[in-house]
Amino acid sequence: MPLWSIAGGNELNGSLAVQGSKNAVLPILAASLLGGGVTRLRGCPTLRDVDASMEILRHLGCSVMQNRGEILLDSEKMCENHIPHTLMLKMRSSVMFLGAILARCGEVRLSAPGGCELGARPIDLHLKALEALGAQVRQSGGEICCSAAQLKGTHINLDFPSVGATENVMLAACAAEGETILTNAAREPEIEDLQTFLNAKGACVHGAGTPEIRISGFAAKPFTEHTVLPDRIAAATYLCAAAAAGGDVRLTHVRPAHLAGITDALRQMGCSVVLEQDGIRLRRFEPLHAGPPVVTKPYPGFPTDAQALVMAASLRAAGTSVFVENIFESRFRHVPELRRLGADIRVEGRVAMVSGVSALQGAPMCATDLRGGAAMVLAGLCAEGESTVSDSGHIERGYDDFDGCLRQLGADVQRCETAPAME
Ligand code: UD1
Repeated sequence: MPLWSIAGGNELNGSLAVQGSKNAVLPILAASLLGGGVTRLRGCPTLRDVDASMEILRHLGCSVMQNRGEILLDSEKMCENHIPHTLMLKMRSSVMFLGAILARCGEVRLSAPGGCELGARPIDLHLKALEALGAQVRQSGGEICCSAAQLKGTHINLDFPSVGATENVMLAACAAEGETILTNAAREPEIEDLQTFLNAKGACVHGAGTPEIRISGFAAKPFTEHTVLPDRIAAATYLCAAAAAGGDVRLTHVRPAHLAGITDALRQMGCSVVLEQDGIRLRRFEPLHAGPPVVTKPYPGFPTDAQALVMAASLRAAGTSVFVENIFESRFRHVPELRRLGADIRVEGRVAMVSGVSALQGAPMCATDLRGGAAMVLAGLCAEGESTVSDSGHIERGYDDFDGCLRQLGADVQRCETAPAME
């Protein structure tokens, strides 16, 4: 089990190139099944969730090689359409394989993803949309089976702009006869990246980034190359780290437009943020103050994945910082851990109120989820003395060399391995 130790008090300074996007590469790996052929992906982060996807792809009969940031994948010999429970358990986003395998094989069987650390996380919208495309969906014994002799394009309106459901529809609809029009689609940049990849692979998808996406037809190409989008949530993490610890940090390999909600929030808390063509510079030398409420919403609203990160930066900000979580039902599980440093946070339902304290004291914490765990490390950066974050592996699901990146900016953060905790 990783244990992260943080000696607080160092300002962060210097430059960092941000990793490729976890949430873009995962659906793209699933999409590589469509039509067979070879895919070369550049800019892939090295992460546990990417490892889990590659394991699933190998189980399905694909050959997959990873070399630094590049993944070379041949899905021509795919021979399996069932993902066993043990592989599904490793990563919630493996539900993305539902649409991809259905499109490729006409049938897919996988174990239903359960709840997770963020709450119940149903997949009703995914299943309803696949049914609308003509798939028969059966659920029994904890497994979901979808099949269709021929999927048919149709109009699908999502009740909520779910990222995963949008991606599953895009994948499945590639194999449908006729046009699919998806309305109230999620608009996240990762969906645009999936569209770019699908079109390079031979699909005809338009409109990603807007609430209406049209998918019509697919003519498989034997070879597809794609470079994965920079990770906006990893970028948000390093910006919040600099805001929490103070200093002068320049991030490269970012798309500033994708980070508008975060850079606005940090600016309103007193950071100087300068947007460059392929970079963002954040300086913070004066104490922070509370900004306007941070209210999570589907993109282009403030991302739920950055809520805990901005909260970590606000723990010592003068005044009361308010956070409203609208996307997931239990996304304040980091709060009791942050309180162990002396943070003053009150939670009422979907609202958390942070009253800034003048100092935090290092303490042991326990990672509750990916972004919550990262937020604890950031809080440790601005606490006095040593903090530790014990972690069953959450942080490495989403960050490539997290401690190395923070050390590159001057933080005193170490990762070590400890024996698994006794039950
Ligand atoms: C994706 C991201 C995750 C991010 C989230 C919201 C990936 C791999 N993960 O997750 O990092 O936090 O978007 O931006 O890209 N819902 C339903 N029924 C469904 C589907 C979703 O009720 O069928 C609910 C969920 O429980 C949740 C909300 O809708 O409360 C948003 O979920 P969704 O947008 O689907 O998130 P994910 O795709 O799972």
